[in-house]
Amino acid sequence: MKILVTGGTGYIGSHTVVELQQSGYEVIIIDNLSNSSVEVVDQIAKITGTRPGFEKTDLSNADETASFFRKHGDISAVIHFAAFKAVGESVLEPLKYYSNNIMSLVHILTAMQKHGILHLVFSSSCTVYGQPDVLPVTEDAPVKEALSPYGYTKQVCERIIQDTSPVSGTQAIMLRYFNPIGAHDSALIGELPLGVPNNLMPYITQTAVGKRKCMDVFGGDYNTPDGTAIRDYIHVVDLAKAHVIALRYLSGQKNKEAVEIFNLGTGKGYSVLEVIRSFEKMSGISLRYQITRRRPGDIEKVWADTSLANNVLNWKAERDMDDMTSSAWKWELELKKNI
Ligand code: WQD
Repeated sequence: MKILVTGGTGYIGSHTVVELQQSGYEVIIIDNLSNSSVEVVDQIAKITGTRPGFEKTDLSNADETASFFRKHGDISAVIHFAAFKAVGESVLEPLKYYSNNIMSLVHILTAMQKHGILHLVFSSSCTVYGQPDVLPVTEDAPVKEALSPYGYTKQVCERIIQDTSPVSGTQAIMLRYFNPIGAHDSALIGELPLGVPNNLMPYITQTAVGKRKCMDVFGGDYNTPDGTAIRDYIHVVDLAKAHVIALRYLSGQKNKEAVEIFNLGTGKGYSVLEVIRSFEKMSGISLRYQITRRRPGDIEKVWADTSLANNVLNWKAERDMDDMTSSAWKWELELKKNI
């Protein structure tokens, strides 16, 4: 089966391509390389021994998307990662996020309908929950008002898929990621933030390796045991493996509904300081950080109820926080070697 992975040179996309190839799938990647580099294709080939197909394509361009699908008539399913995902940037450039994230999905769904491609795995986010009223958060928790244009594009895209499916016959699995961190054991692929990172883990590893003098812990006055915000961090390889399982679930027609939603987390929340402690333990480095004011738009605490993915998909995260922080550190050290 030939699988199209959009955004496949990105962080989660590249790790998913590795798992797909190692599960016997043929993969073709499209990416506009706006937030990743084409060298990632070579790195994937080094890990799996098979070079995935790659075409630089801007999915927000209807004609480019349509011509790609005309050229590749043998695609069995689509895993759609391609989207901008920086919360802060989305507040500063909302139209960039709305046009890219929403129109890319519209063009993909249009092409899938035209070419009779029925199976879609969609990259969604726990951001759709906002600050949940009840923790752990379940998939039927109310979708709250998004705190950023980025989060709102995820909500709109989920709704577009729900509305399109009955008409087009699309069978979709929407995966709500919690906080993906860490890197592949080979340290050949990992989180490669171009420019100033937005997320916690690259800030930690870049501070530890000396790229940044000191990192800020955004907020020490939350209503949590140590005052810092809590998230459900999940190893990117566990996340990637879930996509292969979701694809098999769809192609085996095991889904009861045309569109099904699953939380992908560990079910365990860690505070920022707990992540830092784990990193210090695994790297042997004492991290320079200062506790500063809260970051606007941040929620206080969230962690997943993962029972649906555990019981229905028969998937469970296997890697713990120390695996995540040690793999992230190994990746940062590899990056430093290659500069
Ligand atoms: C985690 C915690 C920060 C940086 C977002 C998106 C989500 C997903 C992951 C795309 C927070 C704190 C961070 C720093 C810090 N994105 N932090 N100092 O905001 O939970 O989630 O990224 O899929 O959809 O919403 O992730 O890594 O930015 O922050 O203290 O330098 O680390 O305040 O509490 P977030 P994050």
